[in-house]
Amino acid sequence: MKYILILFTAICLIQCKTKKSATTPVATPAYAPSEKELSIAQKNWPNSTTEQLQEGNTIYRTKCTKCHENFEITSFSEKKWKHEINDMAPKAKLTDLEKENLSKFILSYREANTVAPK
Ligand code: HEC
Repeated sequence: MKYILILFTAICLIQCKTKKSATTPVATPAYAPSEKELSIAQKNWPNSTTEQLQEGNTIYRTKCTKCHENFEITSFSEKKWKHEINDMAPKAKLTDLEKENLSKFILSYREANTVAPK
């Protein structure tokens, strides 16, 4: 009985160790906001974080694709986006926080990546 217990513990330890080392490399996030995007977000919403922009991106890619494909963010003006976000947030059943993170992401991404003058 004692040996079984020791063996069992040993297996557990080995498995835990294997599992840990397998997950150690941090997965690269699919979207990493640029410094420019973050500083634009912080200009409009002080204390904005990289995580909030990533969260906004995730909301856009998941909750905003239930009825239609994602639109190219840079192809609409800021005014149009603000209007659409207000219009679409209830359709996507976003919470106030989700809507805010989505706005942070869309508006800062748009401003940072739009080539033509506003
Ligand atoms: C319940 C379905 C539904 C969901 C969810 C939804 N949309 Fe829409 N969306 C529509 C419909 C229908 C239209 C076209 C008619 C309109 O403007 O109301 C539209 C139009 C748009 C347009 C305008 C496109 C144009 O060419 O003018 C944008 C931008 C947009 N959606 C963004 C979003 C975003 C961002 C989200 C996530 C918050 C979202 N949508 C979630 C149904 C949806």
